Amino acid sequence: AAAPALSEALLDWYDRHARRMPWRVGPAARAAGLRPDPYAVWLSEIMLQQTTVAAVKSYFEAFTRRWPTVEALAAAEDADVMAAWAGLGYYARARNLLKCARVVVSDHGGAFPADHDALLKLPGIGPYTAAAISAIAFDIPATVVDGNVERVMARLHDEHTPLPAAKPILTEHARALTPAARPGDHAQAVMDLGATICTPKNPACGLCPWRPVCAAWGAGTAAELPKKTPK
Ligand code: ADE
Repeated sequence: AAAPALSEALLDWYDRHARRMPWRVGPAARAAGLRPDPYAVWLSEIMLQQTTVAAVKSYFEAFTRRWPTVEALAAAEDADVMAAWAGLGYYARARNLLKCARVVVSDHGGAFPADHDALLKLPGIGPYTAAAISAIAFDIPATVVDGNVERVMARLHDEHTPLPAAKPILTEHARALTPAARPGDHAQAVMDLGATICTPKNPACGLCPWRPVCAAWGAGTAAELPKKTPK
């Protein structure tokens, strides 16, 4: 099937089944023209780098209640932010979080830049996070690839090359599917599909909007993909 038809089927599924998260804008609000707050998107993506969605929710809510804007966070005491981060782990993320907030205020007038390369230059923002913020906050058609996306792409294309060698192949598959319209919803839809349907074990193929076009479904190989080179 052509890429636009695949993305359209996925977005239709997402509009009905998106997981609710405190940093997301729901379908009704989005239809009314509401955009996600780039500060909320950035904060959530930093927190989600090495931590599960379930664990992040309460921290995200505590941070945004205490520091509702990037200006507020930039003005916080280092020790207060480190204490609020306690329990999330990987404390370099919290130090970079503060550095980044302060650079956004001092160099960008308090507005996250709507530009993938400018985002990439900010402390704590690597290629994954720059792509996620570009797509989700600014609707820039950047391709977001995490472990969920790799698994979904490996199955959709019945790709048997093992990870990590398969990474560039799977990234290219993900790029080819990224739509010009709603790229942020598309990215989050692939992540949600991987987290709730196209799961590592016992994938729920019966509920998948991509089952009719999934090469692994046709070959009966979904549960064994992606292959991994033994460490
Ligand atoms: N993991 C990282 N970012 C995410 C997002 N925006 N939605 C779902 N899972 C994620």
